[in-house]
Amino acid sequence: MCGIVGYLGHRDALEVIIKGLKRLEYRGYDSAGIALMNGSLNIYKKKGKVSELEEHLKTQQNLKSNIGIGHTRWATHGEPNDTNAHPHYSFNKDLAIIHNGIIENYASLKEDLMRRGHVFLSETDSEVFIHLIEDIKEHHACKLDDAVRIALTQVVGAYAIAIMSQSEPGRLIAARKGSPLVIGVGKGEFFVASDASPIIEYTNEVVYLNDYEIAVLDNQTGLTITTIEDVKTIPYIQKLELELEAIEKGGYEHFMLKEIFEQPKSLTDAMRGRVDAVRGHLVLGGLRDYANTLLNADRIIILACGTSWHAGLVAEYIFEEFTRIPVEVDYASEFRYRNPVIREKDVVIAISQSGETADTLAALELAKSKGAIIFGICNVVGSSIARATHAGAYLHAGPEIGVASTKAFTAQVTVLSMIAIQVGYKKGVLSDKQFHEMLAEIEAIPSKVKKVLELNDKIQMISSKFKDARNALYLGRGYNFPVALEGALKLKEISYIHAEGYPAAEMKHGPIALIDEEMPVICIATKDSSYEKIVSNIQEVKARKGRVIAIVTEGDHEVGKMAEFTLEVPNTHEALMPIISVIPLQLLSYHIAVMRGCNVDQPRNLAKSVTVE
Ligand code: G6P
Repeated sequence: MCGIVGYLGHRDALEVIIKGLKRLEYRGYDSAGIALMNGSLNIYKKKGKVSELEEHLKTQQNLKSNIGIGHTRWATHGEPNDTNAHPHYSFNKDLAIIHNGIIENYASLKEDLMRRGHVFLSETDSEVFIHLIEDIKEHHACKLDDAVRIALTQVVGAYAIAIMSQSEPGRLIAARKGSPLVIGVGKGEFFVASDASPIIEYTNEVVYLNDYEIAVLDNQTGLTITTIEDVKTIPYIQKLELELEAIEKGGYEHFMLKEIFEQPKSLTDAMRGRVDAVRGHLVLGGLRDYANTLLNADRIIILACGTSWHAGLVAEYIFEEFTRIPVEVDYASEFRYRNPVIREKDVVIAISQSGETADTLAALELAKSKGAIIFGICNVVGSSIARATHAGAYLHAGPEIGVASTKAFTAQVTVLSMIAIQVGYKKGVLSDKQFHEMLAEIEAIPSKVKKVLELNDKIQMISSKFKDARNALYLGRGYNFPVALEGALKLKEISYIHAEGYPAAEMKHGPIALIDEEMPVICIATKDSSYEKIVSNIQEVKARKGRVIAIVTEGDHEVGKMAEFTLEVPNTHEALMPIISVIPLQLLSYHIAVMRGCNVDQPRNLAKSVTVE
């Protein structure tokens, strides 16, 4: 979703911003633009990729500037075109804005401004925002930051903004509410960005702006942060631990492939310092203060979207099995609008890779306002969700850049399993022996995942047989049912093949009607408590001539008799099998998408970090 980059300092702003926009490309976008102070305040913008903006810039003269703002836009108000792309000028062209978020009351603000003679060029809410700021600035004859502050009290919605002004050319103003914004503090230079990736190669000192804070970056007076009520706050400068290599492709053709192959490492990192099977040790530091809350919970409510919601479904099975605490898994977008019942001893777990998903954030805020204790399972350190929760555990999976989530899913399931095992043990549901066995199983996962990755060539070959499919069905039962959903999501996200995941037994209530000799049916049939049942379901598919690809446990030759292709994966405890069984499905989608010529890392219409509802 929209990406923001701003620069003020001694470097060539254009270069820093274009590079930064490329680092943010993974978020998903459909147009890009930049504003520079080269003589006067000039805006350059184009529909399409950042590379198209670069081509356009090559035709322009004198682009030297030490200050600038740039944006990648994911259309909400108005179709993707050059005019709707950001930045936007104010009415008198003294100001330019880039904005990530949605101004919900933009229509009424626009009407007011039009009555006062404002003319708008685009259909965007963001243009209304900057006109409003200029209107206030002129009306109150105040400084830009004061005008921004007043404007922020009038807008309803979410925003991360950066603004520059022709009449105040040594300053950038940034503000946020609900959309992410990070400020990089270098030596005599400042950066503003949606996340740290455009900043990391220049400085590792950052300030995460809080909601309702306004930052003034000034080449004379430095960084000043005030709240919307004009109270000064002391900038809390944090050191980034991110390495530049972590956000680069490192020799892989796509980020998604890199991230799939990184899983032995990301899973080890997710366990590092937390699990020690030999010493019988399992510690999740971030949950320590609230350990009893979870232990005494009457119910766990899991809130998430997309792939994170699938990890939540796996967690439902694991928590109920190991802790005997009832679990509900909700789409955050539904939970927030359905007046949910929250009781005193309910615990909410919000799962989000980015930590910025607007629906998940709003859902957890709602639960919080009703008195629930909120735990967060996030990957991005310092993200909005991580900061809004009472306690939590980071994934430590490293940056995930490919839009289709892979290593975050496996790390989410791993971290959630660790929590469930710990709670189950403390509650006495798991015996000492079971606890130790589970720890050993968890520790062994990264090496088993490594083994699954050796199937890559075979999966590539299988992909070539199915690349032209128009539909696909994914079936699983028990712990592998959410894996079926996740496999189907991966395929549709990046290859645009219609795919559905189903609990295998439900097939006979509808999807079985779709099965014919062309239908690929991917069955996750590892040896677990549902094995016999899914074998019967595969028979049913076979009887209707469906083309079965089966994920089975090493050494299982039973299913192979019915399947066109089988992929054998190492065995583990059934609760942990999703971490292993999902990997062939990730690879299958990846190869099919590549063979179909799809843009794997930035699939059409999708965004990595969905900061609008
Ligand atoms: C988007 C992404 C998905 C992701 C979902 C939830 O739709 O494309 O890959 O699963 O958002 O994101 P989160 O960051 O909250 O896990």
